[in-house]
Amino acid sequence: MSIILAIESSCDDTSAAIIVDGTVISNVTATQTIHEQYGGVVPEVASRKHQINIIPVVKAALDNAKIDKTELTAIAVTKGPGLLGSLIVGVSFAKSLSLSLGIPLIDVNHMKAHILAHFAEEPKPSFPFLCLTVSGGHTQIVKITAPLEMEILGTTIDDAAGEAFDKSGKIMGLKYPAGPEIDKLAQKGNAIYKFAEPKVDGLNFSFSGLKTSILYFLKAQLKEDSQFIDKNLNDICASIQYQIVYILIKKLKQAALETGINQISIAGGVSANSGLRKALIEAGKENGWKTYIPAFQYCTDNAGMIAVAAEFSYKEKDFSNLNMVPEARLKI
Ligand code: KG4
Ligand code: ZN
Repeated sequence: MSIILAIESSCDDTSAAIIVDGTVISNVTATQTIHEQYGGVVPEVASRKHQINIIPVVKAALDNAKIDKTELTAIAVTKGPGLLGSLIVGVSFAKSLSLSLGIPLIDVNHMKAHILAHFAEEPKPSFPFLCLTVSGGHTQIVKITAPLEMEILGTTIDDAAGEAFDKSGKIMGLKYPAGPEIDKLAQKGNAIYKFAEPKVDGLNFSFSGLKTSILYFLKAQLKEDSQFIDKNLNDICASIQYQIVYILIKKLKQAALETGINQISIAGGVSANSGLRKALIEAGKENGWKTYIPAFQYCTDNAGMIAVAAEFSYKEKDFSNLNMVPEARLKI
């Protein structure tokens, strides 16, 4: 029997989960709302908050699962990518616990875990499949040939899709992270404004031009009418979301054509976006794809996905050791 405690602390969410024989039975996350006032995550503040949150979050995950720490068979933790000061809190905690309980330590790649979140619940994709991984720090199209064998086919050359949402929201005075708020407002509006479409080769992405295009558009409109944003917020949000989703789905179609793979999934924080979820299902119907979207609780940062990824390593006895150090720029 395997009972793994997984810990995630790569950015501004402190999370712990318990997985028993491949089934996630608890997944507890403390989100740090303190960053809202700064318009982005402040690394120093994030690591201090992780230190405060980590013991109560781990305790809640164990209590919810009705598991005592002496029953654990392994400790898993996010090694990277992420903010170094944040990662260190989770990694140090996991190392101490694995040492004191005398059980193996498993290190997990955060981006691989976002993809492997598809194996938390049915329906699960079979191999090979493609995954569009869209978060606050990454935008990648990944080909997955086995649970731990992945290849990046395309990536952003500047901003990530989540940043495109968050930075656009900041321009309009929305709180950080603006992605969920834009999603909510977009559902009440119409995509009537057009923004620049990036010209990027292959399966790569670019979002910095879009942000500039939105900034210039809003500046010009505000000159005419200082209330323009307030009066048209829903339509502006719908237009921004439409353009981001259009860019993402277009490249996904290209990737499916080039690889001949028709099992297509999305993962990462932005996969919680209702417009993207709808557009993927529609593209799936049009192109004969089987599409996979994780449940909401496995989209944004959470330790449940770390636990699912760790279970694959546990089965392979692919363990880490106490010399392991976090890596801010860990690659897939
Ligand atoms: O994966 P994640 O929780 O953290 C990172 O690893 O970055 O992703 C966070 C990102 C943020 O940029 C946030 O604005 C975006 O995901 N996000 C959304 C939605 N929910 C979260 N973006 C658009 N629509 C949403 N519903
Ligand atoms: Zn993430």
